[in-house]
Amino acid sequence: MPLTDKFGRSIRDLRISITDRCNYKCVYCRSGSDGPQFPEMAIDEYLRIARVFVGLGITKVRLTGGEPLLRNGLVEMVSELARMRTVESGALDIAITTNGHLLEDMAQPLADAGLSRVTVSMDAVDPGRFARITRVPNGFEQVLAGVRAAQRPGLNPVKINCVLLRGLNDDQITAFGRFARDEGVIVRFIEFMPLEEDRVWSPEIVVTLHEILQRMAEFMPLREVQHAHSETARRYLFEDGVGEIGIVAPVSHPFCGHCSRVRVTSDGKIRTCLFSVREHDLAAVMESGASDDELADFICRVIDHKEARHHIGEPGFVPASRTMVHIGG
Ligand code: GTP
Ligand code: 5AD
Repeated sequence: MPLTDKFGRSIRDLRISITDRCNYKCVYCRSGSDGPQFPEMAIDEYLRIARVFVGLGITKVRLTGGEPLLRNGLVEMVSELARMRTVESGALDIAITTNGHLLEDMAQPLADAGLSRVTVSMDAVDPGRFARITRVPNGFEQVLAGVRAAQRPGLNPVKINCVLLRGLNDDQITAFGRFARDEGVIVRFIEFMPLEEDRVWSPEIVVTLHEILQRMAEFMPLREVQHAHSETARRYLFEDGVGEIGIVAPVSHPFCGHCSRVRVTSDGKIRTCLFSVREHDLAAVMESGASDDELADFICRVIDHKEARHHIGEPGFVPASRTMVHIGG
């Protein structure tokens, strides 16, 4: 019996942020200067947490940050995760969300360690635009090399996350359509959510699913294909079958009713929603000397209180207690 919340949602997908350090300063995520950082736990402690969650029915583990490739011990961590078995005795699906800057050299060792696939953040295919968004010069070529390096050892399908911001990169939509076809990657456009450090979010900046589909259709018609209930992205193929596009539309088409996700922050707090205003201190329970069974009991109690949904754009919206760079997506 997998972990289930009080709304009957099965929780199968664990995301662990292993550092909140990041070598990029993307405008929709961070402010231009370095802010405070949360402590990091030892890799063995994240592995213990993962083991307990997997014992409760988790089948997918995504490592996030900050930027997870900055964390020493990442490759060894992936090897250990790859040794774990789900309660159904299958292999875990192990993924990483990365900005791709260090991926060129790390893709092969990560694949050898047992990583299943990667998602790379890339918000423009124009190098100048890319630099303006990430506030890092010459990052685009580096990230493109990282994407290609991930495909070589088969970290497929490589997914590209593109957060669209009106007036900044919404002119990149059709270019990304071409990119998906040329590079053999799945490009996922994400509606901007109010999780950034600079509090610049407004409904007007969000480029919606509807608008993305309209603009892409001018490039080439798309047809929607079935997506799994718990998947964040709606999936589309170009009419000739070459190239896949995804749209993650938490603002215009929320998907909370099918949410299967739980998150652990780099300092060992459980977040039951991206927009949680309250965290649950698993690290403190571990420090108190709790057994694995006691950790599992704590986790089950926490999951039971998972939020029904987010309240983006509603009057009285209360911002999440952490911004995205400290959660990891
Ligand atoms: P896989 O299916 O494992 O490939 O990944 P995924 O489809 O779950 O996508 P991913 O983890 O890359 O998430 C894509 C983006 O969707 C994230 O970067 C967030 O911006 C957004 N997202 C992910 N989970 C949630 C969620 O629970 N709520 C909301 N509102 N947005 C989410
Ligand atoms: N809104 C939507 N998606 C975001 N991401 C980061 N910040 C935001 C935001 N405010 C996505 C990026 C990155 C992942 C970690 O989260 O695409 O790939």
